[in-house]
Amino acid sequence: MLSLLAIALPSLMNQTWASMQHQHKDVFSQPVNSLDSEARLNFMVGRGLFRRLWVTAPASTQTADGLGPLYNARSCMECHPGNARGLGPLESGNDIGSLLLRVDVPAQDKEQLLQLVTFKINNVPEPNYGIQLQNFAVPGHLAEYKLHVEYKNISVLLADGTPIRLRKPIYSTTDLAYGPLHRDVRSSPRVPPQLIGLGLLDAINEQDIYKQEDPFDKDGDGISGRANIVWSNEYSKATLGRFGYKAGMPSINEQVQSAFLIDLGLSVPLFRNAAGDCTLQQVRCLAAPNGNSKQYDNLEADQQIVDLVNLYVNYLAVPRQRNMDDPSTKKGKKIFHQLGCQKCHTPHYVTSSIAPAKFNRAKNITPYTDLLLHDMGEGLADNRPEGNATGTEWRTAPLWGIGLTKKVNGYSHYLHDGRARSLLEAILWHGGEAQSQRDAVVKLDRNSREHLLKFLESL
Ligand code: HEC
Ligand code: HEC
Repeated sequence: MLSLLAIALPSLMNQTWASMQHQHKDVFSQPVNSLDSEARLNFMVGRGLFRRLWVTAPASTQTADGLGPLYNARSCMECHPGNARGLGPLESGNDIGSLLLRVDVPAQDKEQLLQLVTFKINNVPEPNYGIQLQNFAVPGHLAEYKLHVEYKNISVLLADGTPIRLRKPIYSTTDLAYGPLHRDVRSSPRVPPQLIGLGLLDAINEQDIYKQEDPFDKDGDGISGRANIVWSNEYSKATLGRFGYKAGMPSINEQVQSAFLIDLGLSVPLFRNAAGDCTLQQVRCLAAPNGNSKQYDNLEADQQIVDLVNLYVNYLAVPRQRNMDDPSTKKGKKIFHQLGCQKCHTPHYVTSSIAPAKFNRAKNITPYTDLLLHDMGEGLADNRPEGNATGTEWRTAPLWGIGLTKKVNGYSHYLHDGRARSLLEAILWHGGEAQSQRDAVVKLDRNSREHLLKFLESL
């Protein structure tokens, strides 16, 4: 712990200075109030590790080497700036920001099929490229690809005559360095999501999530909702998925460790492969020097590092709601409920009193999500299943903090691939199970629509 502190302290002092100067940038980087002083200190060290820039192995310092060989970014923070959502493309072109592409293929044989239906794996990796395409590589290795996006305009006319333009993304991959993609490849574009309140979502009782399921829509409201069931590598069993855009991850710990492995290319206790997402076809990649060292349990990021980053992510606070007494906000809240948005965006829970993360126990929270999967229609579909989730299903996005998005990093694009440039656009993309709510928003008069948006801005 001491050695980690020594590394983190200089940056801690910078952070304090920076937070005095740019408070709004730090609103998503605060610890929950309930932390004791020891946890608070570990939170700060975890924050340092979240911001740490990893370097190519071998390096003169063994503490931060092991990046790659293939990677999408050099630190967690590069993708999750200020813990707000990461940047996606601003316009058509090759500048795709932090947007990444998950890939897979349908089961190719009986064994893979068995693994899928028993939830042992969420996806079968693309044979040449793995589970995700990496757009960077360490010196001497080739990045896997480049991504290009082309936005196609779609016009929507609101009932009060206001024209809205939505943009539908069409992606193409170029510069594929390790051969063609499999002919049946399926891909899922994702921008990094905001990271606040995840420990609180983790602390929601499983039963409180399962009881909202209505897979056969017995109540006939057009909304079903199913839990994702995914494999826990930590506990070697199938369990409820909560994290990621399709709830494909069972816990913060597994999400964080897989980010180390797949996004940064670092070996961690749960996934000890130092070559990250390199496939058997990527021979040079597999043979590259790694940053595993004795000092770190023959890993690049050992249990202590992972624990500190987990603690940091677990205790990132959700800022208080604002302007709640404003008459327009109040009207907007009423409209949100009248239209039925809360049928998926569940406002309120009390977290478990026996949750593993003790400072998150028995808290009143308002995340505005049921953590369930919903068919959102063809418009949003990626057509790449994940665990139990189909190619049209997405986990209801939590709405807490959404009104502060722009304040944190100046960026306010929404939905899993950042296609929506405003909250209204995000709502207009809702289809499938949310078609009637979306249609109701189109029919709102201008004032009511502004109240609804005002309410969302207050979250
Ligand atoms: C290349 C960009 C990138 C990097 C680097 C990255 N992430 Fe992420 N992160 C994402 C994306 C994209 C998702 C959504 C994943 C999904 O849908 O499965 C995500 C999801 C998450 C989630 C779950 C959020 C939720 O709402 O369910 C956590 C926690 C997380 N990342 C933590 C980390 C940590 C810790 C690191 C560093 C070890 C890291 N990330 C590095 C892109 C990134
Ligand atoms: C059937 C379930 C369902 C209903 C009903 C629903 N939503 Fe959503 N909502 C979702 C899902 C799922 C997503 C994530 C979709 C994606 O990322 O592609 C989402 C995303 C959003 C987002 C963007 C969040 C982000 O972080 O990018 C906003 C804003 C939003 N919903 C508002 C609303 C409002 C307002 C209503 C009512 C008019 C509503 N939703 C009704 C399921 C629903």
